Amino acid sequence: MNLLAELRRRFEPVLAGLGISPDDVQKSLEMIRPAQDARFGNYQANFAMPLAKALGKPSREIAAEVAAKVDLRGLAAPADVAGPGFINVRLDNNFLTERLAVAVSDDRLGIAPVAQPKTYIVDFSAPNVAKSMHVGHIRSTVIGQAIVETLRFLGHRVIGDNHIGDWGTQFGMILYGYKHFRDDAAYQANPVVELSRLYRLVATLVGYFETKAELPELQKRLQEADAVATAHKQAAAADPQAQKKAAKEQRRLDGRVADARAELSAAQTKLAAADADPELSKLVREHATIADDVLTETAKLHAGDAENRRLWQEFMPLCLAEVDRIYRRLGVTFDETLGESFYHEQLGPLVAELRSQLPEVVRESGGAVCVFLPGQATPMIVQKKDGAYLYATTDLATIRYRMERWRPDAMLYVVDHRQSLHFEQLFAMARLWGYRDVDLRHISFGTVLGDDGRPFKTRSGDTVGLEGLLDEAVSRAAAIVSENDDKKPAGPELSADERARIADAVGIASLKYADLSQNRTSDYVFSYDKMLAMTGNTGTYLQYAYARVHGVVAKGRVDVAALRASGAAIRLDADAERALGLELLRFGDALDDTVADFRPNQLTSYLFELANRYSTFYEQCPVLKAETEALRTSRLLLCDLTARTLERGLSLLGIEVVEKM
Ligand code: ARG
Repeated sequence: MNLLAELRRRFEPVLAGLGISPDDVQKSLEMIRPAQDARFGNYQANFAMPLAKALGKPSREIAAEVAAKVDLRGLAAPADVAGPGFINVRLDNNFLTERLAVAVSDDRLGIAPVAQPKTYIVDFSAPNVAKSMHVGHIRSTVIGQAIVETLRFLGHRVIGDNHIGDWGTQFGMILYGYKHFRDDAAYQANPVVELSRLYRLVATLVGYFETKAELPELQKRLQEADAVATAHKQAAAADPQAQKKAAKEQRRLDGRVADARAELSAAQTKLAAADADPELSKLVREHATIADDVLTETAKLHAGDAENRRLWQEFMPLCLAEVDRIYRRLGVTFDETLGESFYHEQLGPLVAELRSQLPEVVRESGGAVCVFLPGQATPMIVQKKDGAYLYATTDLATIRYRMERWRPDAMLYVVDHRQSLHFEQLFAMARLWGYRDVDLRHISFGTVLGDDGRPFKTRSGDTVGLEGLLDEAVSRAAAIVSENDDKKPAGPELSADERARIADAVGIASLKYADLSQNRTSDYVFSYDKMLAMTGNTGTYLQYAYARVHGVVAKGRVDVAALRASGAAIRLDADAERALGLELLRFGDALDDTVADFRPNQLTSYLFELANRYSTFYEQCPVLKAETEALRTSRLLLCDLTARTLERGLSLLGIEVVEKM
C-alpha cells in the first residue's frame, strides 16, 4: 500500500480541473505530505497558498473548492480546510484496518511491485584492489547495497556491478615492489600481507619524491600569501577610516599564510622523517626514478608484457580473495564484478571511433587525445601523450558495454563527491555520443570525519582500514551484549556462541546504520559510542526494538502462522494503536521516498519513527494482558506486523536482526 500515492491519485483530477499547468499539478501533488500533528489529520496539503497567485483567488477559496471536489470515499473522511488554506485529511479507521489486514496476510507486507519495472545498473563499492580497503569504501559499499536491495524489492530489475580498480597505477606499484623489495618467505607465508606491505613501501617512496617536487610550489605559495598579507597590513595602517573591514580581511589573509605555512611544514616534516630513517633514506637514494619506473611497469602491463601479465594473473585472485573476505563479513554481494581490466582491449578502438565520430569534440591537444565539452573549462583526457588510457576512457567503454548488454533505464554511480567533475564530464560525453535515453546519475556522498572534523585517520595519520573498523565495532558490540545479558533479571540467557553471533550482527549493523542514517551528501563524524548507543537513531536501538517486539510475540506462545492466517480483525481504537497502524502502512511511502533521490536515510528515519510509535503503543496498550481475547489478538497482530516491517526494512539496508539481545 502506498498511502501517499493513493491520496495523490485522488487529488490529481481535481487539481487538473483547476486549469493550472501540468507542471503545477505535479508540484501541488508533491505538497501533499504526512501531517506533523495528528490533531490536524494524517495528511496535509498546502498547495492552495502557492496557487493563489496563479489563479488570482484567495487561497482559502481554492482549498475549499478542492476539498469539496476531491473524492476520498473509502479512504478518508471529507477533507477539511484550516487557516489560510491547509487541507487536512483524516484517514478512515475502516480503510486502515482493511489495508493492515492485507499487509498481515502478504509476504510483501502489502507492497505491490511497481507496475513498470525499470532496469538499473548500480555501480558501487569499486575499490582499487591491491590496496587494502579503507574507511572511504564503507560508504559506497553500504549505500550501494541499500539502493540495490530497495529497488529490487520494489520490483525493478537491478544489476549490482562492482567496477573494481584492477588495472591502475597501484599495480605498477606492486609490480615494482615485487621485483625490487620482495621478501620471499613472507610472500609464501601470506602473499596478501606481503603485497600490501610492498604497495605501502612503494607508495611511500613515490610520495617522497612527489612531496619533494612540490616543495618549491609550496614555498612560492607561502611567500605570495605572506606578501599579500603584509601589503594589506601596510595599506590598512595608512587608512584608519576602513579599520574594521580591514581587520576582518587581515584575519582572512593571515589565515591563508598560516595554512600555507602549515602545508609547507607538513611536507618538510614528512621529508625529514624519511631522511632521518636510515633504511628509507637508503631506498630513496637507490630508487631515485621510482615514480617513472612505476608508470613504466603499469604501461608494460597494459601493453601485454609477458612477465607483468603473469604476475598480475598471480596477484589478482589474491587481491580479490582479500576484498571478498570483507564483503562476506559485510554480507554484500554483487551480480557482476567487471573490473577496469575487463574493458582494456576495447579502449584503443573506442578512442579511434570517438575521434572519427565526433571530430569537433574529441581531438588532439599537446599530444594527448582530449574531449572538449561545450561549457567545460577543462577537457577530459581519454588518451595520454604516452599512449596510456585513463579512468575516463574505461568509464566510457563501460557505459557502452552496459548499454549493449543490459539496455538499462538508469545507471547509478555510488562514488564520493570528489569525483563530481569526472561524472559530469563523463555523462555529458555519453550524451553527445548518443546515450540520451539512459538516466546517468552520480549518487554522490560526503566524507567520513574524525572527532577533529578532518577526514578520519588513525593516530599515526594513516587512513583507517576497513577491516580494523569492523573488528573494533564487533568487539565493542560484544562488550555491550555481554553487559546487557549479565544484567538480565533472571540471569544471563545467552551462550558464548550466541553472544558472539549477536555481537557480530550488532557491530556490523551499527556501522552500516551510522552511515546510512546520514544524509548521504553530508560529511559525518565517525563515533563508535554514538553508533552503538542503545537509544536514539542507531542500528543497535532498532535491532533492540525488533528483539523486544519479537519477545512479546514469543512470550505469548503464539503460533504466528496461524495468527496471520486467522483473518482476525485489527482494531485501532486507542490513539497509540492508530498511530502505530498508520505508521505501519507508511512503509510503502518510505520506500518510494528512499528511491526518489536514492537516500537510504529516508528509510532509516521511517524505521526509527516506527520503533518509537511501537514504544508508545507498548507503554499504553497491554498486549498479552489485554482486556479481551479479541483485543489481545489485534494487538499481537500489530506487534507481529511491526516486527516484520522492521525486519524487512532493516534487511533492505543490509542489516540482520537478532531475536535476543
Ligand atoms: N575505483 C574507483 C575509485 O576508487 C571508483 C570507481 C567508481 N566507478 C566507476 N565506474 N568509475 O576511485
